[in-house]
Amino acid sequence: MTLSPPRAGHGDALPWWQLGVIYQIYPRSFLDSDGDGVGDLPGITRRLPYLAWLGVDAVWLSPIYSSPMIDFGYDVSDHTAIDPMFGTLADFDTMISEARRIGVRVLLDYIPNHTSVEHAWFTNARESRRSVRREWYLWHDSAPDGGPPNNWRSVFGGSAWTLDPPTGHYYYHAYLPEQPDLNWRHQPVRDAMLDVLRFWLARGVDGFRVDGLRHLLKDHRWRDNPPDRNFRAGMPPYDELLPVHTTDLDEVHEPIAAMRRVVNEHAHRHGERILIGELYVPLERLVRYYGTDGSGLQMPANMHLIATAWQPEAIAALIERYQSLLPDGAWPNWVLGNHDRSRIATRVGAAQARVAAMLLLTLRGTATLYYGDELGMTDGTLRRDEIRDPYAHQVPGLRLGRDPERTPMQWDSDTHASFCPPHAQPWLPVAGSHRTVNVASERADRLSVLTLHRRLLHTRRRSDALIRGAYTTLRASKGVLAYLRGTPQQRLIVALNLTSAPRSMRCSGRVRLSTHLDRNDQHIGGELRLRPNEGIVLEISGLARSR
Ligand code: GLC
Ligand code: MG
Repeated sequence: MTLSPPRAGHGDALPWWQLGVIYQIYPRSFLDSDGDGVGDLPGITRRLPYLAWLGVDAVWLSPIYSSPMIDFGYDVSDHTAIDPMFGTLADFDTMISEARRIGVRVLLDYIPNHTSVEHAWFTNARESRRSVRREWYLWHDSAPDGGPPNNWRSVFGGSAWTLDPPTGHYYYHAYLPEQPDLNWRHQPVRDAMLDVLRFWLARGVDGFRVDGLRHLLKDHRWRDNPPDRNFRAGMPPYDELLPVHTTDLDEVHEPIAAMRRVVNEHAHRHGERILIGELYVPLERLVRYYGTDGSGLQMPANMHLIATAWQPEAIAALIERYQSLLPDGAWPNWVLGNHDRSRIATRVGAAQARVAAMLLLTLRGTATLYYGDELGMTDGTLRRDEIRDPYAHQVPGLRLGRDPERTPMQWDSDTHASFCPPHAQPWLPVAGSHRTVNVASERADRLSVLTLHRRLLHTRRRSDALIRGAYTTLRASKGVLAYLRGTPQQRLIVALNLTSAPRSMRCSGRVRLSTHLDRNDQHIGGELRLRPNEGIVLEISGLARSR
């Protein structure tokens, strides 16, 4: 079996993950094949041809491991078993071989920071202070007043410490009390967790998205976190403190290097295997996670676009800062949405979501696309009794729940958008928009946002300038974000009108793609007129100037 060779035409061959686009699947919500209302592995396998048709290179699956599902799989009770809800190891193997056959790579979520309370390691650990696995987790005496040992907060709100009455100790959890943190300073924990990587590498996966990496090590002196002076009412309670003693410790790079060594040792005949880290840290901290000498992550996930104002100056400033901070040889990457953040079409609106897609897929670096965003899916609305995410219940009054961005994939206009059989009850309600926003109707519509994504993916695949060309911001009129992507052989201007009014820009060339999907090959001689909410990829021959 062979995967398609790197498609970029010129220069050195880039590794597959630099050429590729990654598609994130939230397995619970992709396709339910057995009618229990929850998506599963056979469902994903069935839809691999859709992903190949779309033109993505790899999928990243949110967790599919055994779990009591308190945090919907991010609370793992067995890292090397598939939860029966998703299928079996045989279903997994089938998915891998099908994916390989059609040239789609598979990345798994790897959750090193914590386990479920139901993991055998934790059930043993909590039995007694002398348990074999006691040191595998973080235990501490109470403060003199009987309260938690220090002021550390859980990301999901409240103290990060929970008292375990049988042994009278508190245990630490960066997230829910049902997700106790592992003790990565304890060698047996490292060994066991690195074996988890080996297990899945041996089964053929192409790499991992590593969950919650910034939390992996915490201060061994248990010092209090200082208050964050930027905290304002209405922000999540976690933001009240600066997590300097609980996240992003300098020492964390050492266990990451150990992970990378395992991955490096398993480079397979299909190429390099990769580590992408989930890291919500400032840019200058983020880039420290690169291991361009082969000792860190290939890609610390750059989620900064999600939090940046939808405004040309802000976006250009982000791109330039990121670019200037990247160490030599580091490959950039961009994310517009994921299972923890409101969807792009909700954040910027349907018209600008098309422009956002053009931005994501024409920036320099690997792009990650969140399932359903290619259709223009928006956040679902839920009744109070339909809310499933535990985070939603942590802080009454704040919209913290993540269910809206996790509603079922919209395959067609039928009952439940054909996410599950008609008689089944989907685990989250299917958004009402599925009557028009769905794969079947958008595939048939040559002007749909799905068609736009496919065109962008295919244009990118064939364009050396988009894959490896340098990035330069161009001066443009107010409301327009414009940049040049170029190699000696090809130069493209990307001009994005971030407003709902017409704009124009001085340049000449030929239109390669419009977000409106009409002006194919149109010749532009001096002045590019952008319609409201229009983005254009233009191939130029002369130098670009703007006004
Ligand atoms: C990561 C995941 C999030 C999960 C958390 C705890 O942030 O993306 O969904 O709740 O880790 O594992
Ligand atoms: Mg199912």
